[in-house]
Amino acid sequence: MKKYIATLAAACAFCSFANAQSVKQEDWGKTKNGEQVKMFTLKNSKGMTVKVIDYGAIITEIQAPDRNGEFADIVLGFDNIKDYQELTDYFGAVVGRYGNRIAEGKFSIGDNDYTLPQNNGVNSLHGGKVGFDQKVWKGEAVATGDSAKLTLKLKSPDGDQGYPGNLDVTVTYTLTNENKLIVNYKATTDKPTVCNLTQHSYFNLYGAGNGNILGHEVMLNADAFTPVDETLIPTGELKKVDGTPFDFRKPRPVGSRIEKADEQLIIGGGYDHNWVLNKKSPGEMSLAARVYEPVSGRMLTIETTEPGIQFYSGNFLAGQTGKGGKNYFFRYGMCFETQHFPDSPNRENFPSTLLNPGETYDTTTVFTFGAQ
Ligand code: GLA
Repeated sequence: MKKYIATLAAACAFCSFANAQSVKQEDWGKTKNGEQVKMFTLKNSKGMTVKVIDYGAIITEIQAPDRNGEFADIVLGFDNIKDYQELTDYFGAVVGRYGNRIAEGKFSIGDNDYTLPQNNGVNSLHGGKVGFDQKVWKGEAVATGDSAKLTLKLKSPDGDQGYPGNLDVTVTYTLTNENKLIVNYKATTDKPTVCNLTQHSYFNLYGAGNGNILGHEVMLNADAFTPVDETLIPTGELKKVDGTPFDFRKPRPVGSRIEKADEQLIIGGGYDHNWVLNKKSPGEMSLAARVYEPVSGRMLTIETTEPGIQFYSGNFLAGQTGKGGKNYFFRYGMCFETQHFPDSPNRENFPSTLLNPGETYDTTTVFTFGAQ
């Protein structure tokens, strides 16, 4: 049964139609453990739709217009909960408690040593074996005067995947009438812990399943990136992008240099690295990335308060069957994971990911959808 939580219609004073933003909630099957999964559909007055499920706080669909006003679904995903549970790879999910890798699944806070599951070779990736991407969150939707808003809450208990402290997490997705999707992450803890939350949507602005992303033009607002060892753990160096295939300061097609015999590209199997975003001051909201797909004209602009962005060119996609029976082959989607740098708990020269009791983790990333 479909339940309309809130629909607000702002009547236009000069015309007979009404602009409306709304949030709809419906049941979306059950997990393997029998937990009910819900889907929330956020709509704005421009006809954009964002669908989110409470399992993994996953964005399952984003309908965005091209230069002729034609809508397409621009994120990869699946038609049912079973596929999300089986065909992992973090499609559309919020990853945590620590997005990205922690070397050998070990870190210390003061005199306390912590051990995490090693679920990516010797390293711990995206929160461990059962990260936030696999939890059923508690969703609550509202349509406000000028946006459609969904909050999702999760309680991660002390010791969850080896991390210390009871962590209370709230992620808010807000779809505005300016075609912006604002993602805000908040968390508090009762013991010192580490926290690094991000969004793992795979974008293809030509439409999910409609080919690879190599023709997309990408700009990354970063003068440096963090090179990695062969297990994708940063070496600690902040390397200038000048003269490397990692220089995206001017827009470049993703495929223009991806096959170059560059040591870092070979290690990553393509782009799978963290860029150090140019900021005037730490924590400021600033431009991180711009993506342009020349055939459809769709554009995506990403701004964030985070210091880094993992640009991952979908190198592990291997033909999974997704929405509408379309397959997601090698590099059919790419992720822009705004974040603190990988392995920060073990790197004193990286911005800190430590969260203490009494503090509030509070970061925001804004995705703006356009066309030209
Ligand atoms: C992140 C990692 C990649 C890969 C994907 C999921 O982007 O950096 O190496 O693990 O998640 O497949």
